[in-house]
Amino acid sequence: MSGKLQEVRLRVYRYDPSNGGRPRYDIFSVPVKKDTTVLSALLYVKEKLDPTLSIRFSCRMATCGSCGMMINGLPRLACYTLVSQLKSKTITVQPLNNFPVVKDLVADFTDFFGKHRAMKPYLLRIDTYEQEKSNISYRQTDEELLKYIQFAYCIRCGLCYAACPVVATDKRFPGPQALSQLYRYYIDSRDEGGGERLEVVSDSHGVLRCHFAGSCSQVCPKGVDPALAIQLLRRELLFGRRTG
Ligand code: SF4
Ligand code: FES
Repeated sequence: MSGKLQEVRLRVYRYDPSNGGRPRYDIFSVPVKKDTTVLSALLYVKEKLDPTLSIRFSCRMATCGSCGMMINGLPRLACYTLVSQLKSKTITVQPLNNFPVVKDLVADFTDFFGKHRAMKPYLLRIDTYEQEKSNISYRQTDEELLKYIQFAYCIRCGLCYAACPVVATDKRFPGPQALSQLYRYYIDSRDEGGGERLEVVSDSHGVLRCHFAGSCSQVCPKGVDPALAIQLLRRELLFGRRTG
């Protein structure tokens, strides 16, 4: 695709559960350039062709995590996916798999965020001395930071959750995002949650339910490796805390 305008066909999932309608696909022809993102193409549809189209977005720079959708069958961020990189004359966009639909391309994140919250994604402390003294910091070595920092890059976009085959069949499974955040706090040297954290995911719907398909890590736009976090959590659950 050159820098000149070309046309692409967008095949867009449409569904409004509130009016009892049935899902359908609408086709729109959209002018695009080499640097047009899927989000920009959808905003062209909304601004020029059909203002009733519902999409969710905010930052347009792969930071807020709100524009996730299925694009040609894979979970991706619409603002981070160039039309030209898809090498396809027709692009199909659908709401994220494994999420209920609010309307059109907008997924309902209620369960997803509920599972995230259930992991207590904050430091649990017995000794609260540093928390109570505003002029004192927790100290951490570079090695301690490296144990969790990649998991802290999560933007809660839900792409890994949409890609997970276990989430698709077991709604009680927390999913790769929640489990990687559990590990992120569990392994943080400042956290004192320890066994209390593992307890939350120790039943048959928890960390042992993962079959290591690995699709979560393949689709993450921030380089987080939730499959690794789940393997490390499983090791902790089976063999106890490792310090190395
Ligand atoms: S782990 Fe990656 S794919 Fe999953 S929610 Fe976080 S940023 Fe998105
Ligand atoms: S709009 Fe914020 S991540 Fe895409």
